[in-house]
Amino acid sequence: MPAPIDLHEVAERELSERYRFPWRVKACMSTACLSAGAGPAFAAMEQKIEKEDLALEARLIPTGCMGLCSRGPLVRVLRRGLDEVMYQAVNAEVGIDIITDHIRDHKPVETNVLDHDIPFFTSQERVVLENGGVIDPNRIESYVGHRGYQALERVITRMAPEDVVETIRASGLRGRGGAGYPVGSKWALLAASAGETKYVVANGDEGDPGAYMDRTVMEDDPHRLLEGMAIAAYATGATHGYVYVRAEYPRAVERLDRAIRVARRKRLLGRNILDTDFSFQIDVRIGAGAFVCGEETALMASIEGRRGTPRLRPPYPTERGLWGEPTMINNVETLANVPTIMRRGADWYAAIGTEGNTGTKVFALAGDLVNTGLIEVPMGITLRHIVEDMGGGIPNGKSFKAAQTGGPSGGCISAEFLDTKVDYDSLRNLGSIMGSGGLVVMDEDVSMPEIAKFFMQFSMDESCGKCSPCRAGTVQLHQILERLTAGVGTRQDMKDLEHLCHVVRDTSLCGLGQTAPSPVLSTLHYFRSEYEDLIVSEEVAHA
Ligand SMILES: Cc1cc2nc3c(=O)[nH]c(=O)nc-3n(C[C@H](O)[C@H](O)[C@H](O)COP(=O)(O)O)c2cc1C
Ligand code: SF4
Repeated sequence: MPAPIDLHEVAERELSERYRFPWRVKACMSTACLSAGAGPAFAAMEQKIEKEDLALEARLIPTGCMGLCSRGPLVRVLRRGLDEVMYQAVNAEVGIDIITDHIRDHKPVETNVLDHDIPFFTSQERVVLENGGVIDPNRIESYVGHRGYQALERVITRMAPEDVVETIRASGLRGRGGAGYPVGSKWALLAASAGETKYVVANGDEGDPGAYMDRTVMEDDPHRLLEGMAIAAYATGATHGYVYVRAEYPRAVERLDRAIRVARRKRLLGRNILDTDFSFQIDVRIGAGAFVCGEETALMASIEGRRGTPRLRPPYPTERGLWGEPTMINNVETLANVPTIMRRGADWYAAIGTEGNTGTKVFALAGDLVNTGLIEVPMGITLRHIVEDMGGGIPNGKSFKAAQTGGPSGGCISAEFLDTKVDYDSLRNLGSIMGSGGLVVMDEDVSMPEIAKFFMQFSMDESCGKCSPCRAGTVQLHQILERLTAGVGTRQDMKDLEHLCHVVRDTSLCGLGQTAPSPVLSTLHYFRSEYEDLIVSEEVAHA
């Protein structure tokens, strides 16, 4: 067996390397920037550095997401001892100018400078995304150089498993997969379960339309997830782990596979981690391409190689999970919080956010806003601050109409509630949910019944068909919404719509069916007049 990695030596080497170059150019190579042309821009900068003989002056580093995806490709230029300059819309031409004008001639390329002293950046509190735009996701040394794996080393060499569970409990961390279940309590349940083999599963299925928080963690900071899983395993007595990755995320699969291989070689995973008695293996499983496979019991069926359909709970996975053994499923973002909590302490984490809703939440901010992208904000920030300050408000002189949170399981929040705190409890009180972090802002032109129909179509298409309230109910709800939005719906349709929503919500087997009516119910609640305006009389409808 090779000797384990010496984390402190690697961290020191990385640090001295960091100060060897007067200039560091950090280029976002995450999926959003890549699709906006970051690849050719990176290649052009690389060639120009060579050509200008600047290889000893400037180091070009590929990084993960910097957040303001709508302005990408983004590049940060850091000069030793001086402030950084951030660039937006960096194509190959601009990339070349950055090397020649900024680095060689010390004159920033004014046309593409992005002011990073704006609320979009300054209002963020980065815990899960702290390495975004900072480290190179493909180099374990880069992660270790930013305190990576320090928490795992300390936990497995100096802490008792029950103290780790207690720290997570005291941090107040709640599951980021949607329901907000207290993480410490779930870990304690697994720790207390008896089984031959216990499993920890990271849920990276991320099926909500428009959401990409978990993809960003898996692609841009894969070792953070592995470290979080290993700490969870140590705390609960698990020896095997799976990352269940959405099939549409091939880059995440590739980066996780590579990270696992390297971590094994460095003795941070596998047998006798860092020469201790603790052993833990992780494998990647590719999702089956259905939204319902993110539901924990369907996910386990899918990992076992069966069709991904939910089953009734109890028994809960911590009692009877994978292959009948105790299993704990946590969302990717949940687990990505763990290394930082263990490193900085439960009190530090609990001081962020509000009581009962501690820490931060990552949102994929989308829709009718000036600034869209990924943000990580303290819990309890107001929706108004996110929309008006961080998002830069609604473009084209239009006004705000609604914010949709929680995707197909969530609801729409109207303008009168813009001062609501964004946390699990406040959003639930408004008939929506925090969900996993999709946040879509809509302007005055958007029709709310159309939005409800869009989400109902999604739930109808994604229903696994196992139980009839969801299988047939979502189809019928969609048909009614089609009639209403086509202008041929009647008052009876409205009554049926509402009644059926309650039936589907109350009688479906799993969370998909139980929450599928939420977008309809919340838009009916806050925007009823829009539905009323669509109604025609019975005579006209049957004419
Ligand atoms: C239809 C459906 C889809 C779900 N999709 C996801 C998902 O993509 N990712 C996720 O973490 N949780 C998803 N969940 C929630 C999981 O069942 C589970 O509660 C969660 O992974 C637990 O992790 P947490 O405690 O860290 O939040 C979904 C639930 C339902 C009902
Ligand atoms: S509620 Fe829908 S998705 Fe869930 S088991 Fe029933 S049919 Fe399948």
